[in-house]
Amino acid sequence: TKITYIEHDGTEHVVDVKPGLTLMEGAVKNNIPGIDADCGGACACATCHVYIDKAWADKTGASTAMEESMLDFAEGVEPNSRLSCQIKVSDALDGLIVRMPESQH
Ligand code: FES
Repeated sequence: TKITYIEHDGTEHVVDVKPGLTLMEGAVKNNIPGIDADCGGACACATCHVYIDKAWADKTGASTAMEESMLDFAEGVEPNSRLSCQIKVSDALDGLIVRMPESQH
């Protein structure tokens, strides 16, 4: 599944992420800077905050209540903010574009 991660400074990383992994794991495995994931994907740190490209908002679904409450701790939260460890990669997300916030680099 092709995912494009864009760093805050505009650097693009286009990588192939295996379906079943999370967006966070896909970034970490490919050494993409901008996703710290301090808690390792437990939805408990909010340092895997990303912005989902607007065109993809429907496909990535809604965030859970737990994710919403963690996002309160992230900086620069926008309506399209998500925690990348809570989004599973699937074939339906082929071509997805995510951007990393300024606070994580
Ligand atoms: Fe910690 Fe996502 S990795 S909340």
